[in-house]
Formats: sequence, C-alpha cells, structure tokens
Amino acid sequence: MQNYKLNNGVSIPAVGFGTWQTPPGEATVNAVKTALEYGYTHIDTAACYENEESVGQGIRESGVPREKLYVTTKLWNTERGYDSALKAFDQSLQKLRLDYVDLYLIHWPDNKSPEPNIASWKAFEKLYKEGRIKAIGLSNFQPQHIQPLLDLAEVPPAVNQIEYHPGFPQKETVDFCRKHGILIEAWSPLGSGRILQEQSLQQIAQKYHKSIAQLCLRWCLQNGILPLPKSVTPARIKENLQVFDFEITPEDMRRIDELPQFGWSGLDSAKVDF
Ligand code: A2P
Repeated sequence: MQNYKLNNGVSIPAVGFGTWQTPPGEATVNAVKTALEYGYTHIDTAACYENEESVGQGIRESGVPREKLYVTTKLWNTERGYDSALKAFDQSLQKLRLDYVDLYLIHWPDNKSPEPNIASWKAFEKLYKEGRIKAIGLSNFQPQHIQPLLDLAEVPPAVNQIEYHPGFPQKETVDFCRKHGILIEAWSPLGSGRILQEQSLQQIAQKYHKSIAQLCLRWCLQNGILPLPKSVTPARIKENLQVFDFEITPEDMRRIDELPQFGWSGLDSAKVDF
C-alpha cells in the first residue's frame, strides 16, 4: 500500500475502504474484516452511516492492531457547533470503541452561513491539539465554504472528501484544495456503480487488461487523489486494491479527464442542505 503525506506530516494509506450505504450489522462487520484481510489498512465511516459500531467490531474481530490502521469518521450536520461537535466526537469514539481517530471530517458544510462550520472547526482544533484526532478535515466543501474557514483556522484542513470520478472531476474544488495543500479524497470513485457500463471507459480499461473499476481508481491515484471504493462483495473488495501494478498513459489520463459529465449523484453542497 502506498501513502500520501498530509499537510501536517501524517501519512495516510493511498486507498481507503468506503462504508457509505453498507448496512450496519453483519454486512459492515464482514466487509471490514474482508477488507483488512485483503490488505486495506484505511477504513472510512461516518456518524450518519450508522455503522460506526459495526466498523469497530470488524476492526476488533480482524485482529489487526489498532496502530496499523487508519480510521476516519465524520461529524453529521445535526451536531454542528462547538459543544455539540465535542459531544458527537465522544459518541463516535464510544461507538467505534477506539480512543482516537486518525481523521475527523465535517461531513457537509452549512451553506447558509460560515459560522456553524467555524464553530465546529474550533472544536476539531481542540480535539486535534489534545491528540484525540491525528488530522482534521472537511467533506463536500466547495471553495466558498473553505475560504472563510481558512481565514480563521489555526490548524488548516488536511483533507477534503468530495464526490470524484470520471465524468465528475470537480475541477474548481480540486484546484482550490491543491493550491492550499488540502488532499482530496474521492467518495463514490466508481460513481456508486453508475459509471461502470460506460463504453468510453470500457475501451480504455481493456487496453490495460483491467476492469473499469480499477481504471477509475488508478485514474484517481495518478491525479494525486485518494479513492475510497465501497463494496460488500469479497471479489470486488480484492479487485479494488489491485491498482498499483499498472500505469495509465498521459494521453489516456487526458481522455478520462476530459470526458463529458456523467454519473453525478446530484448532491451539490452549494444547493443541498440536510
Ligand atoms: P457492492 O457493494 O454490491 O459490491 P462507490 O464506491 O463509487 O460508491 O461504488 C460502490 C458501488 O459499486 C456498490 O454498488 C458496489 O457494489 C459497486 N462496486 C464496488 N466495487 C466494484 C467493482 N470492482 N466492480 C463492480 N462494481 C463494484
């Protein structure tokens, strides 16, 4: 497994295992155990996925020592604010049965006002300084959400996790984050399966004797982005990690970069508030 280096010097495994839409209980426990068995060391969950307990159980049952793992969770929108973020963080730790997380993210920006985002961020900074979180970051933030936070942050965000896949490369947000040293993580790097029938991707994938899923994940990596593929299917979990043994040519990278928009979830954080 390769790593990226975050802007605070911490290493983060270059592919993470996503658990969005994986139901709590046996499905999550088994998926996490399978992923860890196949060599993933980085698990991504969130309070609003309601599977933190099962992720924690999968980690414990895997027998992999905690210090070998990279665990991310996220603050949900109902808990925005300083005190509520501190409380929500404790609850997430309790559910995971961990005493620290590697990365904690504000899951979704408040689009109406920067204040709640900044109040949550101040709580994140406190937890970070206490060593209860190794890195802090954002999710679904666009430049207009990030800038007010950067203006007041003592600790700059290390990560922004956004929807990112061929057909939806969010160039403006990616460029802004690159400029500010913020690593982009890709949720739905396979477009939640919506892009896996695309003829244009199929033609390119065949050249490398790889699946479309592997092509999409490799494309993320070669663009300096950290993909978080989700699967509950053991063969796919394994396949999604076999992305370090081929190289997409610059010409094919460009072809994928320039594909017209497709497969977008429609979740625009400039418009949608939960
Ligand atoms: P499943 O979980 O039933 O295996 P994303 O990570 O973009 O959200 O995509 C997740 C979706 O893509 C899930 O429906 C998952 O199905 C499916 N998926 C994950 N990996 C693969 C793969 N290698 N090939 C085909 N489908 C996949």
